[in-house]
Amino acid sequence: MLTIKSAAEIEKMRAAGRIVGDTLKLMREMAQVGVTTAELDKAADAFIRSKGAVPSFLHYNGYPKSICTSVNAQVVHGIPGKYVLRDGDILSVDVGAELNGFHGDAARTFFVGNVAPEVRELVKVTRECFYEGMKFARPGYRISDIGQAIQNHAESHGYGVVRELIGHGIGTHMHEPPDVPNYYDHRTGRGVRLTKGMTIAVEPMINLGGKEVFVYDDGWTVETRDSLPSAHYENTVVITDDEPQLLTLMGVDDD
Ligand code: MF3
Ligand code: CO
Repeated sequence: MLTIKSAAEIEKMRAAGRIVGDTLKLMREMAQVGVTTAELDKAADAFIRSKGAVPSFLHYNGYPKSICTSVNAQVVHGIPGKYVLRDGDILSVDVGAELNGFHGDAARTFFVGNVAPEVRELVKVTRECFYEGMKFARPGYRISDIGQAIQNHAESHGYGVVRELIGHGIGTHMHEPPDVPNYYDHRTGRGVRLTKGMTIAVEPMINLGGKEVFVYDDGWTVETRDSLPSAHYENTVVITDDEPQLLTLMGVDDD
């Protein structure tokens, strides 16, 4: 069910979202050459729990870890493990936390050491895609306006927009209606109208090359077909009367 959150519920989501943002900040500090993705997962899990929250992803549909760590051509849902971060990698970290019955969900793509300029550009434009979407995250527009803005910006750079995975409503469940595609979806048309109190996770997944992806035999990890890099940028967002509020920022200098 698509739920409209009260002011009190939004404050609960803000508290969950702050933990997610702070966890991502820790992940950015830790994402250095020589660190394993399992070490990142362990630290994120401990940090979330130290704040009295629970990692939303652990055991979700059988997911085995507390965060997702997706390197280079991996798009999303990479499972933390033995992988050792290398100079020039990009690392997408996706974090969810539940506090007092409400979830926050956000992702960033970090640079490990010296990353190639064209890959840095991909990461920058993926963040821009999110903010292009935010221009339409307000009453008077519809869900599809967000996706169309994201798609236009990504495709104007020649990038591929992943179709198989999309953003979502969020609240007492990590995934709630409505679907929030990062493209104009002709099957769903213009989508629902945005109204004050709607809470959504907007999460462009943008590929340097083609939009096509495949899933590993592990049942989770999503990777680009053409093995070119992919970036992810996600925040939990509240629709208000005017500007949307972002509940999962990492800090003023470097959202
Ligand atoms: N953050 C992801 C999303 O936005 C969820 C990760 S899937 C999980 O949908 F299984 F790891 F939880
Ligand atoms: Co999400």
